[in-house]
This record gives sequence, structure tokens and C-alpha cells, in this order.
Amino acid sequence: GKVYPAAITIFGAKGDLTKRKLIPALYNLFTDNHLPPVFTIYCVDYLEVDEVAFKDDLLAGINEFSRNGIADEKKWNDFAARLSYIQGDFLKADTYLCLKGKLDAFEKQNKQNSTRIFYFATAPRFIEIIAEALYQQNLCNRDGLDRIVVEKPFGTDLTSAKKLNRFLGKRFAEKQIYRIDHYLGKEAVQNIMAFRFANYVFEPLWNKKFIDHVQISVAEQVGVGKRGGYYDSSGALRDMIQNHLMQLLCIIAMECPKEYESELIRDAKTRVLKSIRTYSTPQIFKNVIRGQYTAGNIDDAPRQAYRKEDHVLSSSDTETFVAAKLFVDNERWQGVPFFLRTGKSMPIQSSIIVVQFKDSPHKIFKDDIVPNRLIISIQPELEISLLFESKIPGLQMKLKPVEMDFTYQESYTETIPEAYEALLLDVLHGDATLFMRADQVEAAWKVVMPIVDAWKKYPAKELHLYKAGTWGPTASNAILKPYAKEWFRLS
Ligand code: BG6
Repeated sequence: GKVYPAAITIFGAKGDLTKRKLIPALYNLFTDNHLPPVFTIYCVDYLEVDEVAFKDDLLAGINEFSRNGIADEKKWNDFAARLSYIQGDFLKADTYLCLKGKLDAFEKQNKQNSTRIFYFATAPRFIEIIAEALYQQNLCNRDGLDRIVVEKPFGTDLTSAKKLNRFLGKRFAEKQIYRIDHYLGKEAVQNIMAFRFANYVFEPLWNKKFIDHVQISVAEQVGVGKRGGYYDSSGALRDMIQNHLMQLLCIIAMECPKEYESELIRDAKTRVLKSIRTYSTPQIFKNVIRGQYTAGNIDDAPRQAYRKEDHVLSSSDTETFVAAKLFVDNERWQGVPFFLRTGKSMPIQSSIIVVQFKDSPHKIFKDDIVPNRLIISIQPELEISLLFESKIPGLQMKLKPVEMDFTYQESYTETIPEAYEALLLDVLHGDATLFMRADQVEAAWKVVMPIVDAWKKYPAKELHLYKAGTWGPTASNAILKPYAKEWFRLS
């Protein structure tokens, strides 16, 4: 299609996300020539800042956080010349009038329309306020050109998510709304679709007949850091399970869509969410384990207890770890448990998905057979490996499992884009495949709501403490029984 100039507005320009993710992503897209030849970036926030100092700070962000390391001075100057800071209170009409003036002038100067992107990198309480102002000022009303991007958390429960969807739905067309789940933009996550649906080796086995269980584990070494204010009223269930882990589960469990097409793909994912079994309260306490870290050591550095972290209540019952056993009640997956786990202050960062196949029903060897296992590593290493039995060289028929490995390092020379690069470019192109549709977000909230409610009703019940730098409460291994003794990890 026609390439329009792009006018990208970031609300919350002084925030962490802008500095760590959005600007480095936009800068990399620019240096790799993915942005349209004509573009402008308006950075809006309420603080009075000196524009030069503001840009220097963004440059420092690129130098610190970009996958490409230090920015090229000339490229940065080119980029920075198209970037401007707008000091404005999100609550005041002036802010939007000023923005409107700039957007109109930009289009007038180019003598054509532009694709307008409004990125909400703000605290959630500003979403409705900014959306209403954009609507009132007619800043985002061309449904083929103008788009808003909404970060998580999208609501804090099903009711608020529905309310927010309704609010936005009255002001913008669904195809203008891009709800971010940055896990969907990760290279190794996008590859799961290709792996499953472009190869015929695994797909015929991808069901209850051959798969014993699935483990989806997102371990983080970081603690809650400076985000206690947000995190303490959220917890791992809302922060990670409701969105990132649910989406990984969807990609593993979904049916093959009729075509590689945004609505069909999102339909297939939503169907998975709607098939997840709902537990009663006693079943929740049996199948969903929550934990909170206490003081410990990680890589020889002390980590204080969660309850001692900044902006966290000293009596907090907020979970920093969740492990759950879920079932997808449909024909393909009936009876196959999906184990989900995530936690902060764990020994290492490691996001992996393990698909464990069933034991061979026909046993002709004396040795114990280790079941076949497919391991998809999402980060920090990107690789897929398959574990299978093999004869140990020698004069006896003795077996030992070995691995077939695919690593990005060995197979590709291309650099791996950051999730935010892929996602921002998709927004510019108007491709919503990797974004959450209204019904998808609501379906994901519906899955976690009974757990949210049960934990709210019994705040301290079975909150397992675990030492920072360990793999979480032992109760999280118990839920794997009899499928596994402990959570799988890459050695
Ligand atoms: C965010 C969560 O959505 O994802 C954070 O709010 C978490 O708590 C982060 O640390 C993890 O993302 P990544 O890309 O570092 O795995």
C-alpha cells in the first residue's frame, strides 16, 4: 500500500518504558530504514524539561538498553531532529490543542495525510482521560490511518477490562486499537507458529494421544525493583499469568487457522482461552500455588525480602510467584495438563516451554526410557531442542537420551529484533495480528478471575514463602505429580 508519513505521539514520554523500550526500538527501526521517509515523534509529559537535556537522556537510554549498543552520532542527530518534547498535563485541554496544532501543521507541510499513532505509555489511570481528549479533539478519527496503542495492564479485573473496552469502543473502531502484549513480539515466540504449522513432523503428534503434559515457565532474576507501587496491588497472577503466560499457552494449544490472517489467528487463540477449565475455590488452592520471596542471595548479591522493597506494604500478601496446573477442555487436549509458572527473584532468567511426549507404549529395552521432550527456549537463549533416546556406542544395547539442537546462533546471521521493534512496525503497517483483541483480553481475564477472587477472599491462605535466589516454593513441584518430579530447567 501507500506509505504515509508517520506522526507518532508518546504519552508518558518521561517514563521508563519510553526510555528503555520505545525510543530504542524506534531508533533501531530508523537506522534499519523501516520507518517511512517522513516521520515525526511527539513526546508528551507533564514535567517541565529542557529539550536538549530530554534528548540527551533518551540517547543515554539507547546507549544503555538498545540491542545495538552505542548509537551512531550522526544517525542519532538525524533521528533526534524529528523528535520534540511537548510539556503538557494529560488532564488539560491545552495539551491536546497544542498537539493538534502540531499534527495539522505536519500534515499541511507534507501536503498529505499521515498515519497517526498515539502510544499510551502512561499509568493506567490516564488511559480514559487521554482517549476522551483525543476523541473530543478529533485527533484520532480516521479509522484507516489513526491508531492508539495501549500498554498493559489492560484493566485490573474482568469488570474494569470490559469497562475500558466499552469506553474505547465508543470512541475508536476496534481496528484502531492496539493492545500490547510484548511477549507476542518476541522472535522466538513468533517462531512457534512457524514451527507448528509449517512443519508436518510434530503437528500430527500435537494432541492428547501423544503429549503427556506441557510446562510453560517464565523465571525472572529481577525482583520488584522500583515498581513496588504498581506491583504490590497487582502481583504475578495479573502481571504475568493473565497476559504473557496465557498467550504462550494459546500459541501452543491453538488450532491451525485457515489462513495466516489476523482475525483468524486471534479467533483461534480466543477459543483456547474459552476452553480452559474453571476451578472451584478448593480446586484453586490445590492446583494454583502462590509464593512470595524472602531475603536471599542472587549471584552473590543480597536481595531483600519482597516485604522490604520500596512502596511495598510490610504486611503484603501479594504473590511474586505463581505455579498453576490448567486444563484445556477440548477434543485435542482433554486430560493433558498445562503447567504454568512464573516468579521474580529466581536464580536465573529463563523462559522456556517444554512439551513432554508420552512413554512409548511398547517396551522392548531393559533400560528405563526417558520420554521425548521438545524444549522451546524463548530467552535469554533462543533455541529449540528435541530429546530422544539413542544407543550408547559399545558392545551392549544400552540407551541414553541425547539432544538435537537448533540454535539461532548457528542457523542465522541475522540480528534478532526486540519485541517492541516488531510490534511498533506492525502498528505502523496496521497489522494487528500480534495484538490483543477486546474479546481476547476479556477471555484471559475470565480465566484468572476465580483465582483473583479466591485469593482476595483468603488473603494469606497458603501463601508460600521462598528464598530469593531459589526456584520457588516446593509446593510448586508437588502440583506436577505424577507427571514430573520437578520443573524442567535448562542445565
Ligand atoms: C512485564 C511485567 O509485562 O514483563 C514485568 O510487568 C516483567 O513485571 C516483564 O518483568 C518481563 O518482560 P521480559 O521481556 O523482560 O521477559
